[in-house]
Amino acid sequence: MHTSSLLLPFTLLFILCFVKPSIAWIDTHIHVVTKSYSDAIDAAGGDPSGYAVPSWSVDSCLEFMNVIGDQRAVLSVTAPGPSISGNGTEGRKLARTVNDEVGDIVTENSDSLSFFASTPDWTDVQGTLDELDYIFATQKKAVGVVVMSVYSGHLLGDSMFKPIWEKLNDYKAIVFIHPTWYEISPMNVAGHLSQPIIDYPYGTTRTAADLLLTGRFNDCPDVDIILSHAGGVLPYLATRLAGPLLANPFEYDGRNTTFANFELNLNRFYMDVALSTSSPQLEALIAFGATDRLLFGTDFPYASDQSIQLSSKLLKTFIRTNPKGKLVNEAKLTKNAVGLFKKHGINIHNPKV
Ligand SMILES: *[C@@H]1O[C@H](CO)[C@@H](O)[C@H](O)[C@H]1NC(C)=O
Ligand SMILES: *[C@@H]1O[C@H](CO)[C@@H](O)[C@H](O)[C@H]1NC(C)=O
Repeated sequence: MHTSSLLLPFTLLFILCFVKPSIAWIDTHIHVVTKSYSDAIDAAGGDPSGYAVPSWSVDSCLEFMNVIGDQRAVLSVTAPGPSISGNGTEGRKLARTVNDEVGDIVTENSDSLSFFASTPDWTDVQGTLDELDYIFATQKKAVGVVVMSVYSGHLLGDSMFKPIWEKLNDYKAIVFIHPTWYEISPMNVAGHLSQPIIDYPYGTTRTAADLLLTGRFNDCPDVDIILSHAGGVLPYLATRLAGPLLANPFEYDGRNTTFANFELNLNRFYMDVALSTSSPQLEALIAFGATDRLLFGTDFPYASDQSIQLSSKLLKTFIRTNPKGKLVNEAKLTKNAVGLFKKHGINIHNPKV
């Protein structure tokens, strides 16, 4: 036997063991809490959802990422966002302040951190348009924007928000939709269950359906949307929503959304698996056909350590024991994230912020 044929398997082994880069998660649902933001929440008398604002630091975030296996975190300020300071000057100021602060944080930690920038409350349409110009044309540090599911009773497809979507489409933006507090009666299940547990997934579903039925998402071919937490209950209820359109298209602002159009745009949504990794949830996402649009997420530091650990354990078990596990493993979800950002001109491994 020739020596070179003996060497080959050893060379391959060496490459596999030492050169193959280890794959780790790209976490697109992970939050940042700056001091200015938690001060603004305190000044407003707390988060209206009743959820306590957790503490956050760069070190605790990096340590968490190390434990969970994140190679990169795309940070966002979560609900209620700058709306906590209202839809006037104070809200605009808060959006700018957090965007500058988080911009600095990711610049100093560009090896592992990126961010979705915040906008003012969308009912402040002009303030939001101005901040989008700042985010995408002036600052140029964010990899997309985080948007709340509803603003003062207006879901995101509302005609009032049309200019905002037009600008987002001009910037070919990635839009991460996060659920927020909304009026509902009674406010709390069992007297005091906090709204995020049950009502946030419905909040996401309501606004996603609104974007489809108003035709707003259809009008934004260059925007990609990430829905939080497995799209709420959208994969589960999608057919129920689309079914009535077979008999009659849905008319909004003098335009019709047909069954075919609904289905087309429904299948454009990206969804993260933050706190949504039980076997029924993963099976539903896979059956829904979303496997090329699934992203990893954790909801740190808002979810408790125990919840995140449970979620992570469920996902790992599914990957290891379910025949469909490879559809949601690290390699697949990381590939989806890399592909999404690349489509928007961003090399997420090296965003050069
Ligand atoms: C601004 O916010 C207030 C309080 O939520 C709301 O009543 C008002 O309608 C909002 N402005 C617009 C233009 O929607
Ligand atoms: C929408 O569909 C309805 C019912 O099919 C039809 O009567 C109406 O003219 C359509 N409207 C538009 C703007 O196409």
